[in-house]
Amino acid sequence: MTDIATLQTETLAAVTGADSLDALEAVRVAALGKQGNISALLKTLGQMSPEERQVQGPIINGLRESLTTAIAEKKAALESAALNARLATERLDMTLPAPEAPRGSVHPVSQVMDELAEIFADMGFAVAEGPEIEDDWTNFSALNIPETHPARAMHDTFYFPDTDAQGRAMLLRTHTSPVQIRTMTTQKPPIRIIAPGRVYRSDSDATHTPMFHQIEGLVIDKGIHMGHLKWTLETFLKAFFERDDVTIRMRPSYFPFTEPSAEIDIGYTMQNGKRVVGGSDHWMEVLGSGMVHRRVIENCGLDPDEYQGFAFGTGVDRLAMLKYGMDDLRAFFDGDLRWLKHYGFAALDVPTLSGGVGA
Ligand code: PHE
Repeated sequence: MTDIATLQTETLAAVTGADSLDALEAVRVAALGKQGNISALLKTLGQMSPEERQVQGPIINGLRESLTTAIAEKKAALESAALNARLATERLDMTLPAPEAPRGSVHPVSQVMDELAEIFADMGFAVAEGPEIEDDWTNFSALNIPETHPARAMHDTFYFPDTDAQGRAMLLRTHTSPVQIRTMTTQKPPIRIIAPGRVYRSDSDATHTPMFHQIEGLVIDKGIHMGHLKWTLETFLKAFFERDDVTIRMRPSYFPFTEPSAEIDIGYTMQNGKRVVGGSDHWMEVLGSGMVHRRVIENCGLDPDEYQGFAFGTGVDRLAMLKYGMDDLRAFFDGDLRWLKHYGFAALDVPTLSGGVGA
């Protein structure tokens, strides 16, 4: 009897003193495990006389039960203490500033396209779009480039193996000029649009990539002449490069879809090995342009004696290189995060005429 009382006191003291789940488990095994001392006591019940068992049975079982309960309570207490300790170490202070998170950037091509849209929107131009998969009538024939025309070969066109329902050859558009056709066949003059987008040619070196970006401009109205073209391009280039001393030079040129045609050169000077727009030390070709050819206007169902217009086209990637000082076109399409971080723009750097299109 005294033995049992001592055992109870000692074991309960061990339970109370256990300072970890492992220590508690060791106490439990020593008392209630297969070889445990309480288990051994329970086994003695079998050898007792029925009278003795009637007295000892409830005492020993009571001891086992009280220990089991004490161990369960201690276990719950230890577990909740462990959880509280963990919560305390893992607490986040929500009032601290957010940690530096990886950020994306706006690609210079996207940025420049937004700048161009902003500048031309201010001059009353709408943005038009056309598909990148074109038929050869819209990309070539309607633009006065018949099948036998050498310009077709010059464009290094990617053709699709199949024709469309009308038997027209399908291709990846080689320039944005087919948007001229799509606009003139669906809209009534006066027309003032720009059409930025991707174009494709089978060509690849430091200054050519198989996919690049162009922007097309088209104005169709009554009484339009080359003076309008020159003013528009000069105004655009001054706004784009954000300087009034932009010099341009118009050189006679040839495009099948414009007559007369002019290439626009922009003047620049070299400063510390970099091209700086302005002046007339050097010239660089930046735009193709001209008065829309009578035959193109006719092909779109308009009367060329009533309506005239001008068109221009230029490479967006090249404009971006010139303005922001990159020298390898291929880097535009490598997806190199270091390049994007250096040349990319923050999402909130939205170009506006009032705030500056150059950011
Ligand atoms: N489409 C021509 C090119 O890709 C550019 C151009 C557009 C020229 C409009 C004149 C008028 O080179």
